[in-house]
Amino acid sequence: MAAPTTTAREVVPILDFGGQTAQLIARRVRDAGVFSLLVRPDITPAALRAMGAKGIILSGGPMSVYETGAPTCDRGIFDLGVPVLGICYGLQLAAHLLGGTVTPGSHREFGRAGLHITGTDPLLRGVPDRTIVWMSHGDQVTKADGLFVPIASTPTCPIAAVRSADPSRRLYGVQFHPEVTHTPHGSDIIRNFLYDICLCEGTWRMSEFAEVASRQVKQSVGEAHVICGLSGGVDSAVTAALLHKAIGRQLHCVFVDTGLLRKGERTLVETTFRDHFKIDLHVVDAEAAFLADLAGVTDPQEKRRRIGHRFIEVFKHKAKAIPGATCLAQGTLYPDVIESGHGHSGQAAGIKLHHNVGGLPAELGFTLVEPLRELFKDEVRKLGEVLGLPEQLVWRHPFPGPGLAVRVLGEVTRAKLDILREADQILLDEIIAADLYRKTSQVFAVLLPVQSVGVMGDGRTYEGTIAVRAVETEDFMSADWSRLPYDVLARVSGRIINEVRGVNRVVYDISSKPPATIEWE
Ligand code: XMP
Repeated sequence: MAAPTTTAREVVPILDFGGQTAQLIARRVRDAGVFSLLVRPDITPAALRAMGAKGIILSGGPMSVYETGAPTCDRGIFDLGVPVLGICYGLQLAAHLLGGTVTPGSHREFGRAGLHITGTDPLLRGVPDRTIVWMSHGDQVTKADGLFVPIASTPTCPIAAVRSADPSRRLYGVQFHPEVTHTPHGSDIIRNFLYDICLCEGTWRMSEFAEVASRQVKQSVGEAHVICGLSGGVDSAVTAALLHKAIGRQLHCVFVDTGLLRKGERTLVETTFRDHFKIDLHVVDAEAAFLADLAGVTDPQEKRRRIGHRFIEVFKHKAKAIPGATCLAQGTLYPDVIESGHGHSGQAAGIKLHHNVGGLPAELGFTLVEPLRELFKDEVRKLGEVLGLPEQLVWRHPFPGPGLAVRVLGEVTRAKLDILREADQILLDEIIAADLYRKTSQVFAVLLPVQSVGVMGDGRTYEGTIAVRAVETEDFMSADWSRLPYDVLARVSGRIINEVRGVNRVVYDISSKPPATIEWE
């Protein structure tokens, strides 16, 4: 792999040894106003010098330095004259390469540990003498005389933070993880490293990422034409906006109208990308095909399977019809990369596979372009704002790939979808009016396969039921139901029952995940 290029004024790269939190370190550095990115652990000292690294961080990793195949780095990076901070495995590797002793598995330490600061050093400036840190290690450095001076310890880890014995070397290490929020003063330690040790100025902003990433995309894509599928969600929207900035007319966007979209979704995509950005946008009207596939199907998994299959067919057909396109852009974010076990070092333990437009790039001979691979969701939103995307798109709650088909429980029909779209729009209008949209993680309506008796005017009704789902979550793996104010719920219920034909009852879902899931199907 060619060494990554950057035009950022200050960069502190991270050698990625495969730790689950490696990208989180980069993110903390960027949060502190200094550009950072992950690089392969075998990067050469010359490449790091060419990049203009103001400091270098060695990430954690799942292996032991003694294991066969354990990732290592060029010893020469310690002689570059720039400060180096080793975190967990990064510290152990530095000790191992420079003559210290790492002892395997003697005192495993996972979770919270009490840290006692025993020495003074700029790295730990402002951190209380006794604090909590997050540990996750089996091995530890046990001997580093003449190499490191310990500056902090925990009850089972006497060498929990170090500075180099030779002050001219500016080599530091911590056995704990300053990048995770469970280490309350972790961000202070990272800032100390950046500002007091690397002497960074902290001038990096997301606008700079937009420039750097756009130049990188232009360089890698060259004259090729790129197809980008838009879903109506934030990730693909930001990918498209970034590619547009980078390659302009070489970008072709495809939006599949499945007939399973929310109210106004297609219009929002059309006005944003075609009218505002002037992007070559191809909208495929495939509602009839999707609804035909779903006729008579009630099993949720079967719905998903048919929708996924049809989506790939439609997308493939359209993509083939765009002449000259050889690349396919995807809005893959860092959490997707790490969960698929595809980090820089290839070491991260695979957790689950993601199938966005699974298998398509290879099948069509496309080269993949994934300009958001280094970013977390909230960074993507910031980038979207910098690129001028409308707030409505940038802050959109997530929406499942199979769309409203998994929110119309049971058989999906056009009539039921129309009822759901109306109810969902009313719910969102009221949530936005109450200033709750950004305070909730996901809010939507579900049409239940339940008819119930009601009374309207003087007449008996026997009509459908809408369930309101609103959740708060950090990672969507677990979620709590939102305590929406009663008056908001009352307005939502009143409006849906009065304004949506075919609904005479609204219920509120008060289940958390687990054991329930966020979606009903
Ligand atoms: P669950 O229902 O599993 O949902 O608690 C967690 C998050 O994932 C979204 N979701 C999906 N997203 N394809 C997607 O792209 C799907 O099939 C799918 N199912 C659920 C859901 O909206 C929530 O944000």
